[in-house]
Amino acid sequence: MASDPLGFLSEQHRRLGPIFRVRAAHMKLVVLAGERANAFAHGEGADCLSNRETWAPTLHEFGAPNNFVGLDGEPHRLLRKKFANHFSRKAAEARLPALVDLTLTAFAEHSSGDEIPFVAFSQALASRQVGTLLVGRTPSRDEHEAILRYTNAVVVNLSLRRMPRWLFRLSQGRSLRRDRQASFAFARELVEERRSEGGNEPSNFIDAVQLASLEHPELFAEGEQVSAGLLPFFAGVDTVGQTNVFILYELLRHPALLERVRAEADRLFEGGQLDPKALRDAHDINGAVNETLRVHPVAFAMPRTAARDFTFEGCRVDRGSSVMVFTSACHFDPAYFPDPERFDIDRHRPPRDEHRRPDVFAPWGRGPHQCVGAGLAGVQMGATLATILHHCDLELAEPEREFPHLLRPSLSLGPEFKICFRGWRRDPGDRFNKPPR
Ligand code: HEM
Repeated sequence: MASDPLGFLSEQHRRLGPIFRVRAAHMKLVVLAGERANAFAHGEGADCLSNRETWAPTLHEFGAPNNFVGLDGEPHRLLRKKFANHFSRKAAEARLPALVDLTLTAFAEHSSGDEIPFVAFSQALASRQVGTLLVGRTPSRDEHEAILRYTNAVVVNLSLRRMPRWLFRLSQGRSLRRDRQASFAFARELVEERRSEGGNEPSNFIDAVQLASLEHPELFAEGEQVSAGLLPFFAGVDTVGQTNVFILYELLRHPALLERVRAEADRLFEGGQLDPKALRDAHDINGAVNETLRVHPVAFAMPRTAARDFTFEGCRVDRGSSVMVFTSACHFDPAYFPDPERFDIDRHRPPRDEHRRPDVFAPWGRGPHQCVGAGLAGVQMGATLATILHHCDLELAEPEREFPHLLRPSLSLGPEFKICFRGWRRDPGDRFNKPPR
């Protein structure tokens, strides 16, 4: 399971059907898999599958027991609705120039010929982008790294329970405590900055949280506002960062496809700026993003706790059981995606539109907690890919090497995966090292 979690779960699904048990580290999990499992999570099963119990230890550590990620039912719906527009496609489209500039700035920190450890590079870029889009500030490299280490350690150990909770608490060393301090100092500054700006800046996610806390004080514990500043980072940095790595990994391994997608990127930049509508209609770029999400679904399953006894496909699941909905199970099923091993970006456009079945193609999860940032992330990844392909000449540093899919905590090619920056294809002009617009 640890060395190839996606392959292992797919194999068990094929052998055992839509519900089966697995043992992962010290945990016993009931896995629900396939189209009917996703329909169940989205429909009648939504009330049987609790996020609250799964996320409570993480949110307790963050001092934010009522963060909407860990709420169930009506309170979750209410808060999610209040925040959704900050995580939307429209919010990201309004900041397209900033997404482009931040991407160029990240490459401008390198020289031609550099072999870039690409996972770390891509996470740092995603962090700057998410910070700019949602909380109005780009974290420094040290802040980004501290937040990533701290939030990953907490989520992996306390909610995904790779380690018994008591052992995690015992094993927290000085470095994790330092990362915790740095993360909270960053988040506290965000809140204080917004208070002192007194409404001069356009509204962002931090303002929305402050407003919601005034409207619904019963839903906001003391640390809630501060730790909300960490949410975009722990939800958006690893997921987008790792997916962007997989997109380039696939394109650089398929030169003809790379040239085709690059030609579209060049067309998108013909007017000098990315246009939101043109990006939305860019079939090859969006096809490459969607096909990567199918083949490398970085968040391929949803951890839950059974809120009550329930029956799925004739099997009883007891209240309190740890449940995993393997949302991406159908991504490799030839009944839905013919020739599933083939990286084929044309699946995601008419007339095939193989992805337009939400219980089948579910890289964003399924049900009430499915990714609220999907729209924003789609624009972020499309804009980043277009910018990179138009401006940069890249190649795989080790084209022959096979990289395992690790869990870090999203699926990852790991720290040893490198891309060589051969230089600029297009002069980026003065579009980098400026404050983001
Ligand atoms: C490739 C990029 C991304 C992927 C694949 C992804 C995937 C997912 C998945 C599978 C879930 C559901 C988890 C569950 O139910 O257990 C989720 C939830 C969530 N995502 Fe994303 N995500 C991505 C990017 C982002 C970004 C950029 C943000 C915001 C900056 C974001 C914010 C959230 C939030 C806040 C939730 C919780 C929603 C709720 O509980 O109602 N995600 N994401």
